[in-house]
Amino acid sequence: MSTPLVTNTIGKPINRVDGVEKVTGKAKYAAEFNVPDLAYGVVISSAITKGKIKSFDASDALSLEGVLQVFTHENRPKLAWFDISYKDQDAPPGAPFRPLHNATIKYSGQPIALVVAETFELARYAATLVRVEYEELTHETDLEANLHKARKPKHGVADLLKPPPPKPRGDFDRVYAEDPNKVAGRYVHSAEHHNPMELFATTVSYEKNGKLTIYDKTQGVTNSILYVTQVFNIPFSDVRVLSPYMGGGFGSGLRPQYQLFMAVMAARELKRSVRVSLTRQQMFTFGHRPATVQQVALGALADGSMNALYHDAMSETSKFEDYTEVVVNWGGQLYPPENVTLDYKLVPLDVYSPLDMRAPGGVTGMSALEVAMDELAYNLGMDPLQLRLKNYTDHDYNQNKPYSSKELRECYRQGAERFGWPSRNMEPRSMKKDHNLIGWGMATGMWEANQMPARAEAVLMVNGKLRVSSATADIGTGTYTIMTQIAADTLGLPISDVLFKLGDTDMPVAPISGGSWTAATVGTAVQTVCQEVGKSLLKLAKNMPDSLFKGAKWEDITFSDKHMRLKNDPNVAVSLQTLVDLNGGKAVRETSTGLPNALKQRNFSRATHSAVFVEVMVDEDLGTVKVTRAVTAVAGGRILNPKTARSQILGGMVWGLSKALEEESVMDHNFGRFMNHNLAEYHVAVNADIHDLDVIFVEEHDDVVNPLGVKGLGEIGIVGMPAAIANAIFHATGRRVRDLPIRLDALL
Ligand code: MOS
Repeated sequence: MSTPLVTNTIGKPINRVDGVEKVTGKAKYAAEFNVPDLAYGVVISSAITKGKIKSFDASDALSLEGVLQVFTHENRPKLAWFDISYKDQDAPPGAPFRPLHNATIKYSGQPIALVVAETFELARYAATLVRVEYEELTHETDLEANLHKARKPKHGVADLLKPPPPKPRGDFDRVYAEDPNKVAGRYVHSAEHHNPMELFATTVSYEKNGKLTIYDKTQGVTNSILYVTQVFNIPFSDVRVLSPYMGGGFGSGLRPQYQLFMAVMAARELKRSVRVSLTRQQMFTFGHRPATVQQVALGALADGSMNALYHDAMSETSKFEDYTEVVVNWGGQLYPPENVTLDYKLVPLDVYSPLDMRAPGGVTGMSALEVAMDELAYNLGMDPLQLRLKNYTDHDYNQNKPYSSKELRECYRQGAERFGWPSRNMEPRSMKKDHNLIGWGMATGMWEANQMPARAEAVLMVNGKLRVSSATADIGTGTYTIMTQIAADTLGLPISDVLFKLGDTDMPVAPISGGSWTAATVGTAVQTVCQEVGKSLLKLAKNMPDSLFKGAKWEDITFSDKHMRLKNDPNVAVSLQTLVDLNGGKAVRETSTGLPNALKQRNFSRATHSAVFVEVMVDEDLGTVKVTRAVTAVAGGRILNPKTARSQILGGMVWGLSKALEEESVMDHNFGRFMNHNLAEYHVAVNADIHDLDVIFVEEHDDVVNPLGVKGLGEIGIVGMPAAIANAIFHATGRRVRDLPIRLDALL
């Protein structure tokens, strides 16, 4: 029971606690930590896509005063790559790429040398003077031309979170053949790159005793320190990695990138502090959302009941790692047809391994599936929303488990109402304004709600303030803020009395920040460790003379307004300051682990859902598409902070729009290279593209996912958007476009 005394910031739109630092430039990124006597490294990228380096001639570069060294595979330190079996925390099955390992070139833009000089400008100039001779081999980079080489992925331990498609159920072929209503289509998606504003950089501070303090752009400092210690055989005690702030991640920082290797290598060899920053062009050389070819077929009875579902995908990977994502499983989890065949294959090409990018696989597969659903609705002459409701289920038939919670029906209802969907005329080309065709489309979104183990420390200091820390990341999502809220509420303190710190390997360990699991993962660790502090405080309270807490158990107490209280008599209270004063002049300090409750979770499937409604205006003469309105209703468990949560969903919607209409990494297969590797030619949505976006949260009360009831919101915002836009374009124009992005010429 809540009383007026209960402090409660969870669920309130608290401003970002790091907001002022972020907008005043005090929040430093990896390339902004200045250390004395810094040298600068510039990476040389391979000019060919496949083959061998025959020779380097670095003599001109080295003859310049101030150029310190040119590192290549010929003179790299012997200890690098001592542990060749090492895999980072987001490594797919295979053999991770090893920079400067040998003369072999595996993909275009591969880092082949590092030029280190006294200034950045000098290093950059010297890099242009290094002559490289190659022996070139023929490369294969074209997914569509190599589909015949598609094969099953080699799944490994790293893929526990990326389950392969389930075995076929029922008899798709027979049932589909007899279905009165059916659709089938082929969907081709282009590759994309993450393009965070902050570019990849590492600053290594070389301390006198040879210890390294490393500022790295990463979504997980633990991942970076493991990489450095394993690859260079350095003891943990000699390395510290920090990443307090990040200018965007989106998955690009889930794996250690080669600037980390280069900077550490150079610092150790030169016994000097070194910074290596990559360029925007070089960001296009490590990891991308893979190009994909999918086929979806759906069959339904005359009343709209779906009884047949087929979804296959063929996706590119590198020739050294099997990067996989969950592309085809979604339909089997979202809809109840009894005859289901799902298949997923990889085509190894001479490209760098693809890399998780916001809602990896989910936005890809759901974009195809939900366009097919729209097509089926039109085939049936049924409203697209009605088709979803007709095939609604609370059961995940892939895992054969009920959902721990699923308020998608309510998302459909509230989203449709806010958007005005019920007044829609189903007829394509039925709405027009001047020379613009107007269309309304909708789609469903879905993403997983995972939780990992993590650790945190909490210290109630002698001044009564609380300091909490965990080696997690805030990739722009609001981790600082929501962890501060969880800590504050757990011990009944105001936000201003709580300081949450992250991004430092001296702190208790946390996993990489991705997969939308940070709120649930680190949130549970923070809640658990603050409860541990609370339990210590209860012991102190019991030891007070004539204590009114003597017989109290942990379940009997609550914290609010800086006091510990008896739940059933809140006037029996003692201040946290009084309690910490009783601790012999010492702070009350606890470290603890937050674990997923596997026993509770194992009987349920856990996921977030969304319903997306979109209005587009298509210029009939020019084929330009403007997304004039979009509403996303999200069921993502308990919303810790509606302000940061809304920002997550808005960001996802903007990106979904960008993916649907603009983003595409274009490769020239003659060169085997992405050609539009800059923000002038790689188009992303800008302010002028964004109009009316609306977010609704349909709260779910779910104590299966974790005691906080949190599911995570990082990725769900993007998932339904591209299909909703494609479907709105069909409604506007009568053109069914299945490929992404949707270019002007598809609509002329
Ligand atoms: Mo996200 S692609 O898991 O950073």
